[in-house]
Parts: sequence; C-alpha cells; structure tokens
Amino acid sequence: NSYVDVDISSLKAGQQITITWQGHPVFILNRPDETLKSLQETALLTRLRDPDSKELQQPPYTQNWHRSIHPETAVLIGSCTHLGCVPTLKLGSKLGGLYNCACHGSRFDLAGRVFKSMPAPYNLPIPPYMYLKHNIIRIG
Ligand code: FES
Repeated sequence: NSYVDVDISSLKAGQQITITWQGHPVFILNRPDETLKSLQETALLTRLRDPDSKELQQPPYTQNWHRSIHPETAVLIGSCTHLGCVPTLKLGSKLGGLYNCACHGSRFDLAGRVFKSMPAPYNLPIPPYMYLKHNIIRIG
C-alpha cells in the first residue's frame, strides 16, 4: 500500500506515536495547548531559520502557523534533514518542547521547524495526509 491509516483516538495531549510510511518514520504528535501557544510566540519565531517554511514544499493544507490540518495534531516525517537520524521528542522546555537530533545536535520546534545555526538545513517535511474520520488519519 502507498498509504497507512492510523487511529489516533487514544493519543493524549503530549503523546506521540511513530509509524512507518514508505520507509520513513512519521511522527504523529498530540500537541498540548501550551505548545500551540509557544509556536506562535515571537520569542520562538525569531530563533527559527525558516519560520514560514518557504524553503521547502509541503502540502498546501499545512501552510499555516501550525503546519498541520488540525492545530493539535502534528504529522511530520521524523527524519532529520541533515543526515537522516530520527530526532527525539522532548516536551516541557520553555519553548513548548523540541525535537532534538542526537547525531549532530540539530533542534526543531514541535511544528518541525529547524532552529538557526543547526546542521540541518530545512524544516522537517510533512507527508501528504487527510482525515478519513475525526480520529483516523490516512498518510500517503
Ligand atoms: Fe540530525 Fe545530523 S543527522 S543533526
């Protein structure tokens, strides 16, 4: 199959699942309210290399401040844009949480946007996806 259907009904705020789609890890993260607030704050935005994701293509329905269809649910390809390691989710920092790539230290916010001066050149890509029902996501 070129697509994967994922039931996210049991995914609580702050939880993430990782599925595999076409050989790529895909993160599905339920972002807590405080994270969503942080994603819009100037203190974070000024530290990002490409806050509006202008340097890479992503699905048109994710070209918004939260980079997703529904703000609370992030869907991101979990492969560092430097050399492809899988970043680790860290919740609870004052920036609303981070993805940290242990290989060479790249950091991304929880919309997958890379911070300035990191080895990773681009934000984390977003796969094509849609909602089949309220809690069922089809990736691909
Ligand atoms: Fe992530 Fe190098 S692979 S920083």
